[in-house]
Amino acid sequence: MISAETLYDDIVSQHYDRDHFDLQASSHAAGLAQLRQSGFAGHTALDIGCGTGNFLLKLHQAYPRLQLWGLDPSQKMLAIAKTKQAADYVAGTVETVAFAQRFDLISFHFVLAYEALEKLLDFTARYLAPNGTVLIGTTTMENFPETFARCDFLDFDLLSGFVSNPVSFDALQSRIADHGAFRIADHQPQVKTLEFPTRELLHEFVFHSGWASDISLAFKDQFEALINGADYPYRDTFKSHSLLLRRL
Ligand SMILES: C[S@@+](CC[C@H](N)C(=O)[O-])C[C@H]1O[C@@H](n2cnc3c(N)ncnc32)[C@H](O)[C@@H]1O
Repeated sequence: MISAETLYDDIVSQHYDRDHFDLQASSHAAGLAQLRQSGFAGHTALDIGCGTGNFLLKLHQAYPRLQLWGLDPSQKMLAIAKTKQAADYVAGTVETVAFAQRFDLISFHFVLAYEALEKLLDFTARYLAPNGTVLIGTTTMENFPETFARCDFLDFDLLSGFVSNPVSFDALQSRIADHGAFRIADHQPQVKTLEFPTRELLHEFVFHSGWASDISLAFKDQFEALINGADYPYRDTFKSHSLLLRRL
């Protein structure tokens, strides 16, 4: 198993912004729409796992006076972010950094695979301003159901040794409720049909897009066999949710 920092520095960063199927862009747009709808008028925002800075850029375009912070363990992802959007960038994770202030908005898009939900919520509860807003772009073990069904070498127990994704959206909702600091104030499902016209695109997505690339590398031979043996176009589904949380 390799660290998220190494995964993104060495394998994913140079591919990440291809954003096949607009998965990141759609989630960011959904989060922004929820923020607008909520009447957000804060002054400071922290994006946890800010990656290549795309959500920070969108925040700046929508709220030019918002002061921005981005946190990510991958120096290469941060280097790309810095070329797009000015912000206070911090290299690290919720386990390694401390801030001297609180934020009116804390967001994390597609970070649940790498950091346990409860740790993200603890950190958020600590650093969110009293009337602050939380935005989450979710991932769960329900992503890519057709591929999962073909992978008879994988099961949820094995997957949970690699990624911290909640097993399902229902489980994610229960875990937010059990955590006790936040309630889900708005919830927008996003469902994308992924259609891969070629073996090359599926290969790139499986090994370089960051979605569970750790798993595909650990089971490289099996995934190569699946990709080589598949019929094209190859189809799967990506189901995500955009959540707006408020403090309880
Ligand atoms: C799938 S990318 C999402 C990037 C960005 N949020 C977006 O929506 O495009 C996951 C990001 O989380 C970062 N990451 C991994 N582990 C992390 C952790 N423990 N705390 C914060 N960020 C982490 C990775 O380096 C990577 O940039």
